[in-house]
Amino acid sequence: MITKNAPSDALAFFGATGDLAYKKIFPALQSMAGRGQLTFPVIGVAKSGWNLEKLVERARASVTAYGGLKEDAFKILVSKLRYVDGDYAASETFTQLKSVLDAEGASRPTHYLAIPPSLFPTVIQKLADSNCHVDGRVVVEKPFGRDLASARALNEVVHKVFDESAIYRIDHYLGKEAVQNILYFRFGNSFLEPVWNRNYVESVQITMAESFGVSGRGKFYDETGIFRDVIQNHLLQVVGFLAMEPPSSSSPDAIRDEQAKVLRTVRTLEKANMVRGQFRGYRDEPGVARDSYIGTYAALKLYVDSWRWAGVPFFVRAGKSLHKTVTEVVVELKTPPQVVFHEPSFSKGNYVRFRLGPDVQIAIGARAKRSGDGMAGRPVELAVVQQSTGDEMDAYERLLGDAMEGDATLFARYDTVEAAWRIVDEVIHSASDLWEYEPGTWGPPQADKLVVDVGGWHIPQ
Ligand code: BG6
Repeated sequence: MITKNAPSDALAFFGATGDLAYKKIFPALQSMAGRGQLTFPVIGVAKSGWNLEKLVERARASVTAYGGLKEDAFKILVSKLRYVDGDYAASETFTQLKSVLDAEGASRPTHYLAIPPSLFPTVIQKLADSNCHVDGRVVVEKPFGRDLASARALNEVVHKVFDESAIYRIDHYLGKEAVQNILYFRFGNSFLEPVWNRNYVESVQITMAESFGVSGRGKFYDETGIFRDVIQNHLLQVVGFLAMEPPSSSSPDAIRDEQAKVLRTVRTLEKANMVRGQFRGYRDEPGVARDSYIGTYAALKLYVDSWRWAGVPFFVRAGKSLHKTVTEVVVELKTPPQVVFHEPSFSKGNYVRFRLGPDVQIAIGARAKRSGDGMAGRPVELAVVQQSTGDEMDAYERLLGDAMEGDATLFARYDTVEAAWRIVDEVIHSASDLWEYEPGTWGPPQADKLVVDVGGWHIPQ
């Protein structure tokens, strides 16, 4: 078995001609090349009837569209790129991969499965049959499984071939600077802790809105849906970071221990606390079933049944084809007693706001006196962090680099993945209403009923 910190000496990535490779992986590899960190062969694997030349063309189009072509770095990437074309169920594909690895003198490969989850078991078994797994690591894209039972089954399959220390369950939200900053901001300061609990917090809202639909990914999305695509993983990881107890240190396991613990205290989601939606036009997308019942939007009310959070609702909503692309968290504090100024009740007065994308912000909402006669207030915001650029590409670059180096800190441990599946398992298995919504809106109006008690949804500006 590979020792934990030995760097890998080749990257084989499955799904090389797919959407994820196009949007995130090639740009990340070009950036690594630009930093002088792409020192290993990169072997794309796919079943597309392509050759290396075509893959290079695709890589060029990818970096041009996502992040910008950097000629020198791209040249390095091309010099490292190899290609294996073949069916994932065919042994020859893996024999070919093994010969490329041998020809490159690579004996500690990292295998990155950027492919539909239904193919994970086949590919993992074939890696073992062809001995490509020896001294290797495997990076598995989210969602890890389709539900609780299949996540357990998949974990067993992966464990038959790879040791836990060689399994990297990717959730690129964990690689985002802004997400890590939630953890830092909470535990790097002392002023938040006294109020970060049920005594002061009224509610928490997390919105992940995307203005684009599923174009080009209809088939994947129709197998996945909003719960499996972003809620079970990205957004529940964010809930965990907001709600967890202080870890005993910054070591990966100390943080993952608390993350797993808090997710285990999140109450299993019930249908009554959820609203699902599908944008109008979704069923006309290529790859989508004409009668698809898959949600492209969901809003949920979660409860964290812990000493710290009992009774505080955590609202989470996410959707495609919404009004704008923005991911934002607002932790709203209770209003002060209106015995001094007797102002009409206001909400969104005292809060902490984390914008996770496309730009990065942390802000604190307060009230200050409006100048002039009388003691009337107005809302003000104190900006703590304000960075205009997003970091989606950096997240992939960082995570791929970490996996190659053998650093699992920013990858999901199995118990957190399982705890997150348990929360949504019941609702993804039972039939529930699905409301159509207009593209360009904030989703189906039916979702408003979840937040009537807290004055409505927070609308990110
Ligand atoms: C991916 C989902 O994991 O995350 C996509 O599959 C989603 O549907 C994407 O668009 C959002 O990530 P980011 O970093 O662009 O906010």
